[in-house]
This record gives sequence, C-alpha cells and structure tokens, in this order.
Amino acid sequence: MRWPFAKIKWNSIHTQLLATYLLLTALGTSLLSAYVLWSFYAYFIQTRQADLNDWSAALTESIADEVEQEDLERIDLLVQRYGAAETMTLRIFDAQGVLLATSSPQLDQQVVNWGEVVGVRTALNGQVMQGKAKGVLSDDDRLYIARPILRQGQVWGVLRMSITLEQLQSQFASVIWTVLGTLGLTILLCTLISNWLARSLSKPIRTMQHFAIRLGSGHFGDRLTIHQSNELDQLAYELNRMSERLASLDQERRVFLANVSHELRTPISNVQVTVEALRRGAKDEPELRDRFLQTVEDETRRLSRLIHDLLELGRLEAGATALEKQVLSLQPLLERAVRAMETRMQALEISAQLNVADLRVEGDPERLLQAFLNVLDNAIKHSKPNSQISISGQRDGKSIVVTVQDQGVGISPDKLSRIFEQFYTADPSRQGSGTGLGLAIAKRIVEAHQGSIAVSSTVNQGATFIIRLPLSSL
Ligand SMILES: Nc1ncnc2c1ncn2[C@@H]1O[C@H](COP(=O)(O)OP(=O)(O)OP(=O)(O)O)[C@@H](O)[C@H]1O
Ligand SMILES: [Mg+2]
Repeated sequence: MRWPFAKIKWNSIHTQLLATYLLLTALGTSLLSAYVLWSFYAYFIQTRQADLNDWSAALTESIADEVEQEDLERIDLLVQRYGAAETMTLRIFDAQGVLLATSSPQLDQQVVNWGEVVGVRTALNGQVMQGKAKGVLSDDDRLYIARPILRQGQVWGVLRMSITLEQLQSQFASVIWTVLGTLGLTILLCTLISNWLARSLSKPIRTMQHFAIRLGSGHFGDRLTIHQSNELDQLAYELNRMSERLASLDQERRVFLANVSHELRTPISNVQVTVEALRRGAKDEPELRDRFLQTVEDETRRLSRLIHDLLELGRLEAGATALEKQVLSLQPLLERAVRAMETRMQALEISAQLNVADLRVEGDPERLLQAFLNVLDNAIKHSKPNSQISISGQRDGKSIVVTVQDQGVGISPDKLSRIFEQFYTADPSRQGSGTGLGLAIAKRIVEAHQGSIAVSSTVNQGATFIIRLPLSSL
C-alpha cells in the first residue's frame, strides 16, 4: 500500500498555505476553548465555595445558639435537616474533635480518627478552612469548609460541611465533549475552506508557471486568463504583455532576416549574371563590357554599403560601441554635412540654405554627422530639380531643434508612420538605390543621444524632418 501523503509536495505553496491556515485556526480555537472551559470551571467552583461559606456561616450561628441552651437533640435535628441532600454532608464535632452529629451516620461509623480529616484540626484551633479534598472515606472530589463554632470567644466545637463535585464534573465532562466535538467540526470546516482558499491562490500561480515555461520554450503570443482581482491579475497582465512583446520581436526578427537575405541576394545575383554574360562574350564588345563592368562596380558598392549599414545598425541596437561624446558646436557640424553633399546638389541644381544658431550639443560628432547625412541624402534624393533644401538649427527650451526641409515629392500620410522602420522604402520596386536603412540608423543615433526624430509632410510640396537633441549645459 502506498503511503497516502507520499504524493503531497510539502514545499508547494498550496501545502504551505494550507498548513499555515490550519495551524493558526487549530491553535486559535484550541486556546480559546481551553480558556473558556477553564474560566467556566473556575467560576463554578468559586460560586459553590462562596455558597458553602454563606451557608456554613449562617448554620454555625444557629448551632451556637443551641449549644448555649445545651440542646443536643436540636443540633442533631438541624444537621439532619440541612444535610438531607445527598450531595451534602454535615458534621458537628465538640471541642475535643469528637463527632457529635452527622448527616451520614452509617458511613461515619467507619471513621476512627477525625483529627485526620482535612480542616477539622485547623477549625479546632479557631480558624476557618476551606478548599477541595477527597471524600472522608470515598474517592470523589468534594468542596469542604470547616468552621469553628464560637461562643464568647471560646471554641465550642467545629462544623464541617462538604458538597460533592461529582455532578459538576460529569456535567463538565459532557461540556468538554461538546466543545471537543465543535472544535473537531470547526477544524474540519476550516480544512475545507482553507483548502479552497489555498487552491484559489496556488492554482493561478501554477497556471502562470506553466505559461512561463511555455513562453520560455518559444511559444510566444500565447494568452493567459486569470480571474482574480488582485496582484495575480496584474502579474498575468504583465505576463501577457511580455508574451505579446516577445511575439512581435520574434516576428520583427523573422522579417528582418528575410529582408537582409533578400537585400543581399539581389546585388550578388546581379553580379553573378553580369559576370556570366561577360564571360559568354560580352567582354569582346567594348560598349557592353564597359556597361557590365559598371554594373558590377555599382552592385558591389551597394553591397558594401548595405553590409556597412547593417553592421552599424546592429552595433547601435546592441549598444556595443559606446558613443564618443564631446561638446560640439552645431553650426560646423551641419556645414560639414552640407559640404559633403555639395557636388550632388550642384549636379541636380538644388540649393541649400543654412540657418543655424550658435548652439552646443553633447554628442558623438561622427555619429551625429551620419544621422544628418542620412536625412539630407533623402531630401536630395526626393527633391525636384531647381528646388531648395532649408536646414535650420534653433533652440527650443532645453533642446536643440534641427529641421531639414525639402520641396520634393513628399510622403503620403499612410507611409509617414513607417519610414523609420528598417528596410522600409516607400518605393516597393526599390529602383532608387536605397535599402530603407538610412532613417532607421538616424533614428537610433538620435535616440542614443536622448533625442527624437519626427517627420511632417505634404504630398508634392515636400517633407520636413525634425531632429530634437538635448542642449549641452556646457
Ligand atoms: N525627404 C523625403 N521625401 C520623400 N520621401 C522620403 C524622404 N525621406 C525619406 N523618404 C521615404 O522614406 C523611405 C525610407 O527612407 P530611408 O532613408 O530609411 O531609406 P532609403 O533612403 O530608401 O534607403 P537608404 O537610406 O538606406 O539608402 C524612403 O524610401 C522614402 O520613400
Ligand atoms: Mg535614405
């Protein structure tokens, strides 16, 4: 046979909660019942003793009266009358401790030495003695009182009165059983309620544990439902958010990989096809050969730029290369960017207008230049011939705001929100040389400088890129 507790996990939350609840209720109810029972018993004994005290005091007076009149018969009558109840025994002794009258004569015949009976000797010495003792010849518990019978300061004799506690004890025993029964029932009920309570706490925790295990093994996007309105609910909500976030990251990663391989494959296969064509004979026709060689050169350049951009993006994403920050003047930085694009702009007859205030920014000059170049490159690519690109740098509170505004084709509202994504180009055929990484890189650079980048545009009127960077306090 298997030991029934073998299956219980002693260190599980459920068992620990259950054990704690049970221990506390058992301890609490037991202490309470013990206290109630004990006070009940003590109170009862006390009242009986007070009664005994009052009765014996009154009776001693009556007996003392009879003693004065030396009426032994009356004394005997009083003893018989007051000691008639079976639960009570009444005895009168003279000053020498000789039994004069008793309410239970048959029993008392067997007693040899009354001096041994508890309280008699003390009372003969003139003191009242009261307490709990065994019966004179029986084994039952009794309450007794021994009181001297006094007249004119003389001890004439002793009155000893006792009542049995047997009834009280049997009554008390039944009370104890009732209390124990109730206690048992309470603990049983508590077990059921605690079990339910403990389960209602431990079950969602177990559910979340399984959920986390599933999440850990790659099941992103699963949802968890917990019907509790407490911290567990909050925890489940956060787990769900985490799951969603992981799912979307996972999705992004897949898309990114697909994009990377696609972007890499295209120029490589272009080069392969061109080289093949050259080998097949195109190399012998000078015009074709030059064009094909140009293609090979363009494609390898594109490939090299792509790989450079990807590496740059990866490094920025991982925060691998720390920014080499220094305090920079904004004006020379933007002038450098414009100078780098000058020849291209001249070829397209695009003019640049610079309006930059004397401001300082703390940052990595090469990185910031890269970000400005990427934005400027786009502005040139999408500008119409004979148009203007305005570049301004102004202060706005604690920030520097750089705007690059062109008069080009603009960006339609549905594309505005996506242009900062990796590989996103508004031209799906990718006929322009872009791969859609320029703005993604610019955004990461600006964000690494605790800045932000935004765009606004009207189709066919141009686009404005707004780069916000923290102003240097130095
Ligand atoms: N000034 C602009 N005017 C119109 N469209 C723009 C402008 N700047 C960006 N875009 C749109 O946003 C897209 C994303 O720009 P991004 O710089 O990230 O990529 P790209 O220029 O296509 O390629 P890359 O910069 O990697 O060479 C562009 O393809 C273009 O459609
Ligand atoms: Mg670009």
